[in-house]
Amino acid sequence: MPAKILVADDDLTLQRLITNTLKLERHEVIVASDGRQALDLIHSEQPDLVILDVMMPVLNGFDVCAELRKDPETAILPVIMLSGLGQVQEKIIGLRAGADEYLTKPIDPRELLTRVEMLLARHALLRKSAAVKSGRVLSLIGAKGGVGVTTLAVNLAAKLAGNGNQVILLEFRPDYGTVALHFNLKPTISLAALRPLEPVAITDQVVNRLLNETSVGVKVLCGPQKADEFGAFNAGLAGALLARLITQCDYVVVDLPPAVDEATETILKSSDQVLVVLEPEATSVAAAVQRVNQIIAYSSAITIRLIAVNRQGAMLLSLREIEHRLDRPLLDVFPPAIDAMGVAVQFGMPVVVSQPNHVYAERIGDLLKQLQESKATTLHR
Ligand SMILES: Nc1ncnc2c1ncn2[C@@H]1O[C@H](COP(=O)(O)OP(=O)(O)OP(=O)(O)O)[C@@H](O)[C@H]1O
Ligand SMILES: [Mg+2]
Repeated sequence: MPAKILVADDDLTLQRLITNTLKLERHEVIVASDGRQALDLIHSEQPDLVILDVMMPVLNGFDVCAELRKDPETAILPVIMLSGLGQVQEKIIGLRAGADEYLTKPIDPRELLTRVEMLLARHALLRKSAAVKSGRVLSLIGAKGGVGVTTLAVNLAAKLAGNGNQVILLEFRPDYGTVALHFNLKPTISLAALRPLEPVAITDQVVNRLLNETSVGVKVLCGPQKADEFGAFNAGLAGALLARLITQCDYVVVDLPPAVDEATETILKSSDQVLVVLEPEATSVAAAVQRVNQIIAYSSAITIRLIAVNRQGAMLLSLREIEHRLDRPLLDVFPPAIDAMGVAVQFGMPVVVSQPNHVYAERIGDLLKQLQESKATTLHR
């Protein structure tokens, strides 16, 4: 089957040799002469396979490959790396950056073609199995800490599962994760187990070992549970993990920490919707304005929605005043529900399941409808 292949090499002679070889097999070829141009063309042209020279101006092949692996859209795109450097060490760096194949110059056209055909065939198989699902990603992040993000994420996930969706709740935080307590789980393995892995090593099998079943149907990947598991995650891991999770469910609900790092950025950029959570008081509203600015700076294509949780009970600012300061509408202001929260955690059963008639549970249902109604217009993938 003819494919669309990007060839990135600043050596024009080699670029032509490879192009001609591929065209003889009726492949469509796009060429780039530096790493930046290669990345731009990959995003605009969406080739089926990429051939990258290691030594290129602006961005080298290793860096291009690492960038591709960070982004769930290109995380499994087949990559062949070419290098004049025959040393084992270079080859290892290439494979670690996420290359599927590594060929040393001089290139034998027949070998290149064989590798191309094999990789394309393997990828077609992978896509066939992955095409079963492509889940939507709903991420929640606080304007600041402790505003009720995890409680919302847990209940939204449980409600989605109750509506018949396959749901994975990903608690993506570097330090202690509280999601386990909401479901009365005692996970023996957490997100931290992925930290030492290269993105390519994050397979469905590895991910499945981390997923905990719950009685409400949500599968949960818990954040770190012990102090010695705390620590930052890198963007490559975030992208590779999300790429695997979306093939396994209808919805990935992500509970994010109120943090600024490359992993959080990667998840925010890969989300269909981001729900920014705040409290209806001045400092939280001010923090929310900056949280929104931060997310927009990552990408203006991210769909941001805002929600307030009135944990304290007092509304010191009017809804109008809050929306004026935010310069955006609020989807809702959730009422205080201290009693319900206590019971839910005590029994390890989210409010939407244990107390479905509670006003908090009802409002979760309304919120979900609002989020789902917007899907036709806000889906940017
Ligand atoms: N609507 C509510 N009414 C009263 N208390 C609430 C409400 N929502 C959450 N809480 C309580 O507020 C506390 C913080 O909630 P939660 O853990 O969900 O916040 P968080 O934003 O995830 O915090 P962190 O930033 O530490 O991750 C918890 O004790 C929770 O029970
Ligand atoms: Mg939390």
